[in-house]
Amino acid sequence: MQRKITIAIDGHSSTGKSTAAKQLAQELGYLYVDTGAMYRAVSFFALSENLIHNGILDKSKLEQRLHEITITFERHPENGNNEVCLNGRNIEKEIRTLEVSSVVSKIAEVSAVRSKLVEQQQKMGAEKGVVMDGRDIGTVVFPDAELKVFMTAAADERAKRRYEELKKRGDHVEYEDVLNNVIERDQIDSNREDSPLVQAADARLLDTSHMDRDEQFDTLLHWAKERLRN
Ligand code: DC
Repeated sequence: MQRKITIAIDGHSSTGKSTAAKQLAQELGYLYVDTGAMYRAVSFFALSENLIHNGILDKSKLEQRLHEITITFERHPENGNNEVCLNGRNIEKEIRTLEVSSVVSKIAEVSAVRSKLVEQQQKMGAEKGVVMDGRDIGTVVFPDAELKVFMTAAADERAKRRYEELKKRGDHVEYEDVLNNVIERDQIDSNREDSPLVQAADARLLDTSHMDRDEQFDTLLHWAKERLRN
C-alpha cells in the first residue's frame, strides 16, 4: 500500500483553500479537516452566549467556558462534506455568515482557544493521510508535514469570490463590507502574537488570483503526487 502523508494548506481567507483541499482529500482518499470551521464554531458559541458586546470579546469569560465546547465533524449524507458540530448540533450553515466572519479573527487571537483546537487537530491528523487547511497548519500544527502549500490571491479578487458565495446563499451583503472584512482579517491574522499567518519557509506558494478551481486542484494534485513519489 502507498504510504500516507500529511498535507498542510495555509493562506489568506477566500483564496479557494477549502474547496481545493476538500477535492484533493477526496481524490487521495484522505481525511479533510477545515480548521477555520473550528475557530468559527468557537465564535458562534461566543456570539450565542453573549460573550461579545459591541464587538468587544470578554476574553476571560470565554477562557473560563472553553471546557463547555466540544467540536466534532459529521458527514453530510448526500454531498459527503464534513460538517462542523458544536456540542452535537450541526452549525455548518450558521458559521458562514458575515457576522461570524467579523468576530472570528478576534477569537483566533486567544491563546487558550488556539491550544485547545491545535491539540484536537494534531489528534485528528496523527495517523497521517490528512489534508488540513487553515492559517498555522504548516507552521504550528504539523511543522513536519510532507507537503506544505501557502495559498494567496489579490484581496479584491478574494472579496469578489466571497461576495458571490454569500449572495448565492441568499445573504444580503454589500461588496464593500465583504472587502473590508477580508482586509481586516488579513491584518489581524497576520499580526497576532500567537501563531500569526506566515508562509512556512518550506511551503510552496500558490497564487490563485488568475486560476480557476480546476487549475488550483490540478496544481495541488501534481504537488501531492510528486511528494508521494519521493
Ligand atoms: O478559513 P476561514 O476563513 O474559515 O477561517 C476563519 C478564521 O479563523 C480566520 O480569519 C483566521 C482563523 N483561523 C486561524 O487562526 N487558524 C486556523 N488554523 C484556521 C483559521
